[in-house]
Amino acid sequence: MLRPIVGQAVSCVGKGSWRFPIAASSVFSRFQSRPCFCTQTSNMSPTLPAIATKTHGIEKSVWVEFIQLALEVKPLNLGQGFPDFCAPDTVRNALSKCCVDESKPLLNQYTRGFGHPRLVDALTKLYTKMIKRNINPQTEMLVTAGAYEGLFVSIMGLVDPGDEVIIIEPFFDCYDPQVRLAGGTPVFVPLRPTKTAGSVSSADWVLDPQELAGAFTKKTKAIIVNTPNNPLGKVYSLEELTMIADLCKKHNVIAIMDEVYEWMTYDNAKHIRMATLPDMWERTVTIGSAGKTFSVTGWKTGWVYGPEHLMKGPQVIHQHSVYTCTTPVQEAVAEGFEIELDRYDSPECYFFSLPAELKVKRDNIIKILREVGLNPTVPDGGYFIMADVSELMNKIDVGGDPNETKDFRFVKWLSRNRKLQGIPPSAFFSTSHKSIGENYIRFCFIKEDENLKKAGEILMNLKKDLDAGKL
Ligand SMILES: Cc1ncc(COP(=O)(O)O)c(C=O)c1O
Repeated sequence: MLRPIVGQAVSCVGKGSWRFPIAASSVFSRFQSRPCFCTQTSNMSPTLPAIATKTHGIEKSVWVEFIQLALEVKPLNLGQGFPDFCAPDTVRNALSKCCVDESKPLLNQYTRGFGHPRLVDALTKLYTKMIKRNINPQTEMLVTAGAYEGLFVSIMGLVDPGDEVIIIEPFFDCYDPQVRLAGGTPVFVPLRPTKTAGSVSSADWVLDPQELAGAFTKKTKAIIVNTPNNPLGKVYSLEELTMIADLCKKHNVIAIMDEVYEWMTYDNAKHIRMATLPDMWERTVTIGSAGKTFSVTGWKTGWVYGPEHLMKGPQVIHQHSVYTCTTPVQEAVAEGFEIELDRYDSPECYFFSLPAELKVKRDNIIKILREVGLNPTVPDGGYFIMADVSELMNKIDVGGDPNETKDFRFVKWLSRNRKLQGIPPSAFFSTSHKSIGENYIRFCFIKEDENLKKAGEILMNLKKDLDAGKL
């Protein structure tokens, strides 16, 4: 039988099997009186306590798996969505000031639970301007530990056991487990490509209006929409959002809008906030991210805004879980917003200079992918691109676990054998719709030009080796 040993953290190193791969005894020595997760055989206890059943079946995470792979094989990483260049000095300097300025010691202490006042004020000013309605900073704005927590508290605070939640695919992968944790049932409706050959745009991926309408039932509580979309780059048009809004109004359903890439749109695409559509403010909560807005994903600061009657739920969940987010980061993000609001009408405003820079990167990666014969879906927004790798993939024996989808096996093969990492898009689809994403790879293009060029060279060499029959 297995039983946990308590109070012998240091002495049990090397005796049992460690569940956590941490070796530093200096770390353990500080926790000697804590339970140790070392296990060994004993006949004293018949069973070990079990983890909560609500965690069963949601263990797998594409991020855990592929970040671990990146740590192991150290590929050129176009996988995870973060820039490999410096964030703007506005927010970095502001954060540095919070830490070194001895005249403001409280900036390193707890702040208001629902959001640091200076940040809440800045967010309120910004979104009051964006959605053309006065937002109440006390009751309609909540700061969270990243958009991730914003999504979690919204889902936990709005969804009851037995409720159905419509999730449009491809989706950011945490929506599904978060709905399940709330006791809800996800109902998936996919965007499908209307064309796969020639020049394909993210706007060519569309919802079937009848399929969407058919997904609404008496049990539907919410629909989760991500625009601009990760991984596709789709920016929903006014017609598409209106179709969703009409269904929400007809069935009394909440729109949970993930708009973390709100500033990143290209060419003629325009981000439209669902909360601005007629009669939608009352039934919409919108999630944003400072990590995405200011290229500081490691700062994990986000927010949720919406009408008071809906915000109460997310606030209560936040209050009893995270309670208060990091003060200096909120202060720095607030200063960042104040600066951008002051220069909102200038091209230097980061909300506009970043997408201008990203458009060049997007166009570069499109060119590279086309040169190697991988047909990209041209994204209208966000900083990811999906490329059709079916031809390449089908010519290579990528091995791997046959129970895994093709794209998972190919992405792992590419990381290990060619040192280039992407993300398999089938991770963003439900089990029954994985085949829609299986022929693609997702690359992140908010990367140094030099690294995008290197990725192109890796792909070109792969193509040459294939053409020469070397694979
Ligand atoms: C669509 C989408 N929503 C939410 C998040 C999470 O954002 P944050 O880092 O602020 O938690 C991400 C991160 O990649 C994302 O792509």
